[in-house]
Amino acid sequence: MATLFKNIKELIQVRTEPISFVSGKAMSELPTIKNAFLIVENGLISDFGTMDTCPDSNFSEVVDATGRMILPSWCDSHTHIVYAGNREGEFVGRIKGLSYEEIAANGGGILNSAKTLQETSEEELYQQSKDRLEDVIQLGTGAVEIKSGYGLTVDAELKMLRVIKRLKENYPVAVKATFLGAHAVPVEYKGNKEAYLKLLIDEALPKITKENLAEYIDIFCETGYFSVADTELILEAGKTYGLIPKIHVNQFTAIGGVQSGVKYNALSVDHLEAMRDEDIEALKGTQTMPVALPSCSYFLSIPYTPARKMIDAGLPLALATDYNPGSTPSGNMNFVVSTACIKMKMAPEEAINAATLNGAYAMGLEDKVGSITKGKQANLILTKPINSFGFIPYSFGMNQIDKVYLKGKEFFV
Ligand code: NIG
Ligand code: FE
Repeated sequence: MATLFKNIKELIQVRTEPISFVSGKAMSELPTIKNAFLIVENGLISDFGTMDTCPDSNFSEVVDATGRMILPSWCDSHTHIVYAGNREGEFVGRIKGLSYEEIAANGGGILNSAKTLQETSEEELYQQSKDRLEDVIQLGTGAVEIKSGYGLTVDAELKMLRVIKRLKENYPVAVKATFLGAHAVPVEYKGNKEAYLKLLIDEALPKITKENLAEYIDIFCETGYFSVADTELILEAGKTYGLIPKIHVNQFTAIGGVQSGVKYNALSVDHLEAMRDEDIEALKGTQTMPVALPSCSYFLSIPYTPARKMIDAGLPLALATDYNPGSTPSGNMNFVVSTACIKMKMAPEEAINAATLNGAYAMGLEDKVGSITKGKQANLILTKPINSFGFIPYSFGMNQIDKVYLKGKEFFV
């Protein structure tokens, strides 16, 4: 039961030796093989090389990739795909001049999504979310992290996490779940944030871990949301339940949350639109992956994460969508890669490394996905006929994907 992909114009992101992530100058190296073959067995990459060394065996399926390229699927390490309804009304409000912060202060924002989600049944939430997951898979995503955080009650947070679990069971894509109960202070706890944090710690966390619903814990560390002290309280509590931190930090203001992430050995610190020199310094030499979300900057018209400064300082960087109803109603990793090149001055090699290998690391999946390496899952993008991988970000907003494969099988809806 082996599939042969033959005559591949260029096989992208070939890592013969397994590697966790790339940082600094190494981000501009994207190893490839021209005129290549790739063999998939039992859903895993079993062999690859140049066509002149292609084995002459019997294959159950042969795909002729003449003129086309193969890349590992995109690894989207930061999403909020499970949500109910949308916030198109706020979009129009912002066009007319309101800021994201003003909308949130008027009862919109995360609290608006939480109200809708609380009134939506688990089945309906699943149906809405699975459509989004199918959309992003067709756009080339083969591994995805999904957060809770639009429930803001114990029951509604559990509802979200159960939907994530069901998506994970029903789709061949790799899924990781993150508990983001501390996304905003719910209306009922206005002025009493401490009691809400206590509810998350004393009631939500034990239930989540009992049902094994999450691997990561997240918090929105931001002025007007949760402080550095709140962040450390939540991360500490998560740690006692074996949950690894991944935090929303430095989106609008830099208040020291990056340092807390490093202190708690966070797997990733995400957003980072507002970065001070000391925040870049704090990340040097750590195992914490910085994650940029350029579609969010695009949609909210806020600064982009200073990728050039960070990579030039020797840091690694991952790219993710942040797909959510408020700040990024788009889960298109192709657009993310393009925008990183166009607005953040990342080279195509850097952006592709950030959206594959480094994204896989940012969700603890670096030994399973993110590169063309023997033994990794055959989650692959087969492009249309194109002349170079740089054409993917260059032709922004266009779709250069012909087919996507998950565990070696073509994905159809
Ligand atoms: O990552 N910044 C915090 N949370 C989400 C947006 C939440 C929303 O507006 O619904 C984000 O951008
Ligand atoms: Fe987010």
